[in-house]
Amino acid sequence: MIQGKNILIGITGGIAAYKIPLLVRLLRKAGANVQVILTPAAKDFVTPLTLATLSGQPVHTGFFDAENGRWNSHVELGLWADLLLIAPATANTLAKMVYGIADNYLLTVCLSARCQVMAAPAMDLDMYRHPATRQNIEALKQRGIQIIAAGTGELASGLCGEGRMEEPEAIFDVIRQHFATRQRFAGKKVLVSAGPTHEAIDPVRFIGNYSSGRMGIALAESFARQGAEVDLVLGPTHLSTHHPAIRTHAVSSAQQMLDQCLFHFEQADITVMTAAVADFRPQTSASQKIKKTDAGLQLRLEPTVDILKTLGERKEDHQILIGFALETENGEANALKKLKSKNLDFVVLNMATEPGAGFGHNTNKISIIPKDGQIYHFPLKSKDEVAADILDHIARIIPAQGQ
Ligand code: CTP
Repeated sequence: MIQGKNILIGITGGIAAYKIPLLVRLLRKAGANVQVILTPAAKDFVTPLTLATLSGQPVHTGFFDAENGRWNSHVELGLWADLLLIAPATANTLAKMVYGIADNYLLTVCLSARCQVMAAPAMDLDMYRHPATRQNIEALKQRGIQIIAAGTGELASGLCGEGRMEEPEAIFDVIRQHFATRQRFAGKKVLVSAGPTHEAIDPVRFIGNYSSGRMGIALAESFARQGAEVDLVLGPTHLSTHHPAIRTHAVSSAQQMLDQCLFHFEQADITVMTAAVADFRPQTSASQKIKKTDAGLQLRLEPTVDILKTLGERKEDHQILIGFALETENGEANALKKLKSKNLDFVVLNMATEPGAGFGHNTNKISIIPKDGQIYHFPLKSKDEVAADILDHIARIIPAQGQ
């Protein structure tokens, strides 16, 4: 898969830079064309000569090649790359990437690259868990940049914790996986719903739930990275995504979510309904703010439409329809009921009672329950990794449906 691919590696100024020559070697052995950019700070950690020797290409260190009197075209290099990997990615470089700062050659190439960008952060544990770094990493993820999360272990500072760059072999595997799966969903139209719905009580109050939409956004981004065109119907949340292959349709109520889902469903090859749709809404919504009274307030609620069930009734044989089941008890039995009653290809079960699973976490623990009765259990993983597992499962059932 890596044979003949153009891989551009940007090395920034961190001690983990010493591991990159090994990665270059692995990529070259697998048949990739590798070029390397060193930031000024990176040159203190690893020499251009080592990298030029291993990559078989001159190393880029700045805008000007004084020796040959040439200007290095960042645009050309950005377009050459099938993949741009920044490793190690320091906190400083991650922050600059968020703001589009282009004060060195690597950052300028980052702005010109049209290919997938990956970053492997490496820094001390306090820097890694600092809210500024966490937010920057989140912002880059939302932009479609794949973050190869740092591992835990001994750090150069002598401290022990999270912030260690992934080993070259693990990064190599991520790259291999990227090229193996990147066009898996090319030409497919995907509909994903995500987030909560808000059911208005009056102009300033609503009934809602704690869903952040993170799981659905992670799925939409994984599909987009693997070549699909995605319509994301997104309930009210502070999260967003800016991947160019994702069209976001912001909605508020269950009714609006239903309308948008129905509008896009017919065209969709694959639909994944992760949204936490309110099951009930106030029968009437007051047009003015309801005033407080000593008598209290009784709200009459009526059921909303089950969107997934409605889609299940309209589903054609060539379409794949997947639902989520959030349960607090009798998980498998309840999920199986939803699988059948909503006419799904499989249901993703997550137990709200499991630590780290369900709403508001960056992690999730799921089981996939397909029609054949076999149940696949997965350990607690980041929502990006959970999305990858779900996509793997979908990729497996596409051919089974004769596509
Ligand atoms: N769902 C939907 N429309 C609704 C309610 C749920 O499309 N009005 C979808 C969810 O997006 C999810 C699946 O149905 O994919 C299951 O949702 P869940 O809340 O677990 O179950 P419900 O069907 O609402 O049943 P219950 O609340 O009784 O568990």
